[in-house]
Parts: sequence; C-alpha cells; structure tokens
Amino acid sequence: MSETIWMKIDSGETLSRDDMAALLSLTDEADRRVLYEKAYAVKIRETGPGVYFRGIIELGNICEKDCYYCGIRGSNGEVKRYLMEADEIVKTALWVHENRYGSLVLQAGELSGPAFITMIEQVLGRIREKTGGGLRVTLSLGEQTEETYRRWREAGAHRYLLRIETTNPDLYRRLHPEDHDFEARKACLGLLRRTGYQVGTGVMIGLPGQTAEDLADDILFYQKEDIDMIGMGPYLPHEATPMAEHFPDYVYDPDRQLRLGLNMIAVTRLVLKDVNIAATTALQALHPKGREMGVQAGANVVMPNATDTSYRESYQLYDNKPCLDENSGLCRGCLTRRIESVGEEVAFDEWGDSPHWVKRVSDELSL
Ligand code: 5AD
Ligand code: FES
Repeated sequence: MSETIWMKIDSGETLSRDDMAALLSLTDEADRRVLYEKAYAVKIRETGPGVYFRGIIELGNICEKDCYYCGIRGSNGEVKRYLMEADEIVKTALWVHENRYGSLVLQAGELSGPAFITMIEQVLGRIREKTGGGLRVTLSLGEQTEETYRRWREAGAHRYLLRIETTNPDLYRRLHPEDHDFEARKACLGLLRRTGYQVGTGVMIGLPGQTAEDLADDILFYQKEDIDMIGMGPYLPHEATPMAEHFPDYVYDPDRQLRLGLNMIAVTRLVLKDVNIAATTALQALHPKGREMGVQAGANVVMPNATDTSYRESYQLYDNKPCLDENSGLCRGCLTRRIESVGEEVAFDEWGDSPHWVKRVSDELSL
C-alpha cells in the first residue's frame, strides 16, 4: 500500500475516489490490519467507546417486491409466509426495552396496504405509551408514500433504514425486475429526510459486476445525501433465487466477501467519521467472529435478533444465516460476550443517536 494514502489519512486530508478504491481493494493482511486500526481509532474518537445494541424484530416476510437476490422475494414459493400480530410485536418490543437495548428496529418484507400501515402506526403508539417514550424506534419497512412516512414518524418512529442496495443505476437495474425503480428508491431517502427521520441507508458489498469504484461511489453517495446511519453487509447467495441465471459468470468467494465487507466498513468510517455504522449479521454468516471483526474495523452498532425463534427459519434473506435456533436471551448473552471479547463494551440503556444527526439538528436549531 502506498505510504501517501496512509499519510493522507493521518493528516486528515480528503481521500480521492481512487484512494478509496485502492483501500477497498486491499488484500494483504498487514495492510488490512493498518486500515482497520486507523478506522477503529476514528470510531473511538467520533462515537466514543462502546457499541449500541438495536433489538431487531423481523415482524413479517410477506413481500410485494421481487429483488433477484433476496430469499424472501415475492415469487419464492418455498417460503412459509407470516405477519406477526400487533400484540406480539408490542410484547417483543417490551422485551427489548426490559433488556435495556435502548433501541429497536422493526423490519419486514415490503407491504403497502392500508391495514398494514395502520397496524404499524398503532404498534408504534402502543410502544411509545408503554415505554414512556424510552425506546428509540427504527423502521425498516421499505418504500412508502410521504404520507405513510409522516404518519409513522408522528406515531413514534425516529429513524428509518432504507438501503439503496447499490448506487450504480445499471447494476441496480440488473439486480431487480423492471418495475423496481432506482430513482423512486432514492427519492424515498429525500422524503424520509423531509419528514424528520434520522436517515439510514446502505448497500450490498461484493455483488456480481460491482467494482471497487462502485463501492467508492456508494460512500460518496452517503456523503452527498448527508446520511446519518449505515447498514450494509456482504452479498450472500440464496439458493432459491434466480441470481445464478442473471449472473452466470459470478464466482462466489466467501473470503473475498468477508474481506470486502470489512474494508467497506473501515473506509466508510474513515471518510464519513461521525455516522453510526452497523456490523451486520451477514458478516457473521461468513465468519463466526464476523460481527466483532466489523466493530474492530470501525462499526459501532450491532443488531441482536429479538424475533421469536419460531419465525426465524422463514426470514432467511440469504443462506447460512446464523442464530436460527438461538432465542433472544441467548443472542443477548452471546453478542454481549462477543463485544467484550474485543475489548469493547455494550452501551446498555442508551439510545445511541447518530452523532452526525445530533450535530445536524443542533446546527439547524441554532440557525
Ligand atoms: N445477501 C445479503 N443481503 C441481502 N439482503 C437481501 N438479500 C440479501 C442477500 N442475498 C439485504 C438487502 C435488504 C436487506 C433487508 O437485506 O440489502 O435491503
Ligand atoms: Fe445469536 Fe450469537 S448472536 S447466538
């Protein structure tokens, strides 16, 4: 690795797109260790020591979308479909609160019907009431109208995660059926911002046909869109998807996926500095210590699964998803130990708002 890039990082000089692509492409162990150490130092400086937990409830897998890569895509007839009842979602959210996670993520396949929208709105109201507003709630429920985003925001959601998946429009087109529109998805990020959310996005890393320059552009996109939170992870194949037909030349290399996933966390941390970045479960599908490794490369958030184990088998976006049999209590203990094993600590009872968002809001208030 050329000394000049390390020097640029140390002196705080802006990294160019080419610099980023070079860092993302690092394969040498010693170079990567230096990269992760530098990114971890920025994590400590900007977000402090500690890792935030977000309890994630995968509340349903019925999906109106049909993304080629996803295991719960609408046309996968092999999946048993479910949608939790409101009472069960609220009960699970209270478990997350009692277990001092500070923050909750509600995720599901994409649904746009009025009954679903109202159900989520009511669930948000009940969670707010029963916890006295003590839980920060993130939604990850896909593309919706501005009106829906507003209703959910007013009912008590603070944050929204909508991955752009890739910011290369050609690649986006090749990964989705024709009616999945890149521009519409991007516009949703603007709507979320306008309706007052802390906005999260992310991409899949190591997609077929994706280059290091594409990933550098993804980071520049996060920067340009002034994103507060990043949730991104390696692409992992799912056997019941048509990816192999669409990309017959793609060779899946798990070591490369893990390496690229970690490099992407580190370079994103170096460039964006004060955003929240999650070490996602997909990393752990590639390595038993994947999520800890993500923290050591600069992530400051992990998302323990709080979904009842009876549903987990039906919520597999990719093959080999970990923790299918571990109940939520086990995941809590397991992840806490994992975080501590790398000399970090779980910041229980804290909301863990994105420092980037906190600065943004205080700047807006002082205007
Ligand atoms: N591999 C990795 N991530 C996937 N997702 C969906 N399918 C896969 C896969 N095969 C991710 C998408 C989506 C998020 C909920 O899960 O990025 O936004
Ligand atoms: Fe679920 Fe380790 S995080 S068992």
